[in-house]
Formats: sequence, structure tokens, C-alpha cells
Amino acid sequence: MIIAIDGPAAAGKGTIAERLATHYHLPYLDTGLLYRAIGKEMAEGGIALDDSLAAGQVAARLDVSRLGDPNLRGHEAGELASRVAVHKQVREALLQFQRDFARRPGGAVLDGRDIGTAVCPDADIKIFVTASPEVRARRRTDELRAKGRDVAYERILAEIRERDARDSGRAVAPLKPARDAHLLDTTDKDIEAAFRAAVDIIERAKAERE
Ligand code: CDP
Repeated sequence: MIIAIDGPAAAGKGTIAERLATHYHLPYLDTGLLYRAIGKEMAEGGIALDDSLAAGQVAARLDVSRLGDPNLRGHEAGELASRVAVHKQVREALLQFQRDFARRPGGAVLDGRDIGTAVCPDADIKIFVTASPEVRARRRTDELRAKGRDVAYERILAEIRERDARDSGRAVAPLKPARDAHLLDTTDKDIEAAFRAAVDIIERAKAERE
């Protein structure tokens, strides 16, 4: 069973995907980490983020054994990721690794922006997780403040809107629900309720197939 979870920043897809993977005993790949690692490596190496050729080269020799680096999870790495994710060369270089991961025996859970549309168009279950920009900005602000960061809600909201526009507006593999994706709006749901809604979607889809 391949489960594809897509959606915009801070909609809750990572947490839902991780919990689904535990629940169904499947391996889990957070594909955002791939783009984060590339963005970070380029920024640290002083390479311009809009250099698509250089970005493609960094992507081609990406060391996936380092995706566990906690520094990749930060807010800034997410911004860098979104800027390198626009390059066709980057997305092509990452495609095979993601597909191989998805095709493991027994299946896998992958989350990102283009799993249901580009990476695994044949996924058994596709869920597109959304929430209003205001609620997503509130969650991100609370998350950063809990880590001791002094951030302004208005700035985070502006960044979320900007990232949505960049991710949805890019030419290659833009953020959008696959035609056969189930929509899961988490605006009024906490993690537990969102997870339960995702399990319901999966169980209903499985029952329909049997
Ligand atoms: O949860 P959050 O959106 O903050 O981070 P993420 O899922 O790690 O994604 C960071 C950025 O990577 C996104 O804004 C996308 O531009 C890019 N990304 C992508 O283009 N395709 C994916 N499959 C995953 C992430």
C-alpha cells in the first residue's frame, strides 16, 4: 500500500504521515527533507539558489544518509527548500530515489507537495491536507515560540502566503491536489482528530476496493 500525503506548509501533513506510517507499519519518507538538504548545502556553499544547473548537481550527489540532521527541520531550511524546489533539474534528480522508496515491498508513506501528482501517480491512497493560511501561520508561530524564537505572527503569515504562491505557481510539479486525492481540511482539527480522519479515509478506500 502506497500512501501519498501532500499539502502546503504547516497543514499537518508531516505529523499525519508519520502517524499513519506507525499505524500501518510502513516506512516513511518526508520528501521535504530532500529539498531542505539541497537548499542548505547550497546556502552554506555560497551557491546562488537560482542557479538551476548547480542545484541539479547538488541534488544528483545528495547524501541521503544525512537526512536525519535536525538542522534540516528548521523554518529557514524550509524557505531555502522552496527556492531550490522550483528547478526541474532538482526534481528530476530526486525522482528515482523517491520512487524506489515508494516501491518497497509492503509499501510506504511519502509526504510532500507532488507525491500524488508526480512521484507516485499510482499511489493506492492520496490525501491532500489543507488548512487556512491563518491557522497554519498560528501553528507555525506557536511552534517557533515554543522553541524560544521571538517571531511575529504577521511575518509568518506573510511567509506562508509567499511560500504557497511559489509552490503552487511553479512550472514543474506545482503544489495541487491530484484529481483522485481525498481532501482533508485540518483548520478545525487537532492532531488526533486529523489523524483519525486520515485513517477513516484510508479504511473507507480499502473497504471500497475489497
Ligand atoms: O512542512 P513544510 O512545508 O514547512 O516543509 P517541507 O514539507 O519540508 O517542504 C519545504 C519545501 O520543499 C516546500 O515549500 C516545497 O517547495 C518543497 N517541496 C517540494 O517541492 N516537493 C516535495 N515533495 C516536498 C517539498
